[in-house]
Amino acid sequence: MPDNLTKPILLTGAAGTIGRVLTPLLAARGYRLRLTDILDFPDDLPQNATFLRLDIADVDAVMSAAEGVSAILHFGGVNGEHSHEAILPANVIGTSNMYEAARRFGARMVFASSNHTVGFHPRSRAITAREEFRPDGFYAISKIYGEMLGQLYFAKHGVESVHLRIGSCLPRPVDIRQLSTWLSHPDLERLILAALNAEAPGCAIVWGISNNTRAWWSGDDAARIGYSPQDNAEDYAADIAHADEHPAAAHYQGGGICAIDYTRQRPGFEGL
Ligand SMILES: NC(=O)c1ccc[n+]([C@@H]2O[C@H](COP(=O)([O-])OP(=O)(O)OC[C@H]3O[C@@H](n4cnc5c(N)ncnc54)[C@H](O)[C@@H]3O)[C@@H](O)[C@H]2O)c1
Repeated sequence: MPDNLTKPILLTGAAGTIGRVLTPLLAARGYRLRLTDILDFPDDLPQNATFLRLDIADVDAVMSAAEGVSAILHFGGVNGEHSHEAILPANVIGTSNMYEAARRFGARMVFASSNHTVGFHPRSRAITAREEFRPDGFYAISKIYGEMLGQLYFAKHGVESVHLRIGSCLPRPVDIRQLSTWLSHPDLERLILAALNAEAPGCAIVWGISNNTRAWWSGDDAARIGYSPQDNAEDYAADIAHADEHPAAAHYQGGGICAIDYTRQRPGFEGL
């Protein structure tokens, strides 16, 4: 298990939505945080945190930021669907740099993967974390690349990693899809603490969702790493009426990203 409380933890994407949620929560638990982002950190820095502005595609900057850390919480990069060209530097080169840093400094990797790695599975069928990838865009492919790096670096170098297939991390669910995909902020914190402190996680895959009644996803390493979500999107179901309009968005687990640049006549291809 990494020596989390004496050595610092590197957090990429600290200025992003999840980074800004995690920073005060982890700082309050006594973790020493080395925050990084390509943008300035917009909040007050906690006492036990430092901030460094860097581009994760810059290997030298990454190596000097990661020196001596016990774990890397890799949340930085391009979030959501964009062109290959926009995604490549941060999500492919940048994630490669982070894995190389984890190897060099003996750090555990906690990687923010995504549910979009399996986005083209139909909502009508629940899946496990061991089923095939069905990426719903270039963003999803970059996350699969990150998960594959994790497998490679564990097999070849013994770098431990926990891959979080995050659903929808928000204060509360706001549409029908999120009744299945929601990850509450308290469960996000539980998930990160489990990923940081699990004994020998190997190369784990965990769905980043709460204990949602309508979840499509199971069969992961949650129990093995000690993640036990407590919240349930169903508590908000009565307030939610908004459903996806596009037929592909409504049909597939990836929702709206499946509908971007969708040129088929209608959904139904299940890759079989
Ligand atoms: N929010 C969710 O529900 C959700 C769902 C699935 C996966 N994820 C993943 O979790 C991570 C965090 O999500 P978020 O919602 O906070 O996203 P976000 O876009 O708010 O934050 C990402 C951060 O990465 C930074 N970044 C982008 N390119 C960078 C670069 N080249 N170098 C350094 N920093 C760079 C951005 O400035 C931003 O602050 C992302 O990797 C995202 O793909 C999030």
